[in-house]
Amino acid sequence: MSRRLPHDGARLAVFCSGFGSNFQAVLDAVLSKKLKAEVVLMVCDNPKAYALERAKKNNIPVVLISPHLFAAREAYEKIIVRILKSQQIDLVVLAGFMRILTPYFIHAYRGRILNIHPSYLPHFKGAHAIRDAFESKAKETGVTVHWVTVKVDAGPAILQRKVKINRNDTLASLEKKIHAVEHEIYPKAIQRVILRLRSGLR
Ligand code: GRF
Repeated sequence: MSRRLPHDGARLAVFCSGFGSNFQAVLDAVLSKKLKAEVVLMVCDNPKAYALERAKKNNIPVVLISPHLFAAREAYEKIIVRILKSQQIDLVVLAGFMRILTPYFIHAYRGRILNIHPSYLPHFKGAHAIRDAFESKAKETGVTVHWVTVKVDAGPAILQRKVKINRNDTLASLEKKIHAVEHEIYPKAIQRVILRLRSGLR
């Protein structure tokens, strides 16, 4: 895939499985023109995801396909890749997508897949990063936007921000602080990537 973006802005596909607050933050940044991009579609694997309501409210087309219909993960991903290519998607933005992508998908969109993780990577990898940080009694954690590579939560960081864990924080208050930082930095990180890709850099 050519590194340079062929047109103004970038065509985004946002992948969600749940609440979709990061999808909303990215979409809001696009609508307020802080992020020079278009949210072309949402890919969702969960028919109960609240993210679907958000897409509907904002007239964003949804690709809702249950992975359980497929014997192999690659077969599910092949359909998604075909749709993304037909829609000329430039960047895949993972926003709480609770599936691990196979090397097939990662290769198909190599260097074009971003993820947001609720910790200051490489600390607290995995699906329970906020809880793990809270229970570890660490004094700080954070948020990382990173490139997606075959190794989970291990791709190069694009943007990171630290978040302090205060003595009076509860798990709920820490989650709230982390999500606020996520919503602030994900659009910024995407904008940074778009500018880099447009100038032919990575
Ligand atoms: C976020 O905390 C994100 O870092 C993690 O999953 C959560 C998704 O939240 N990957 P939402 O669905 O965007 O509200």
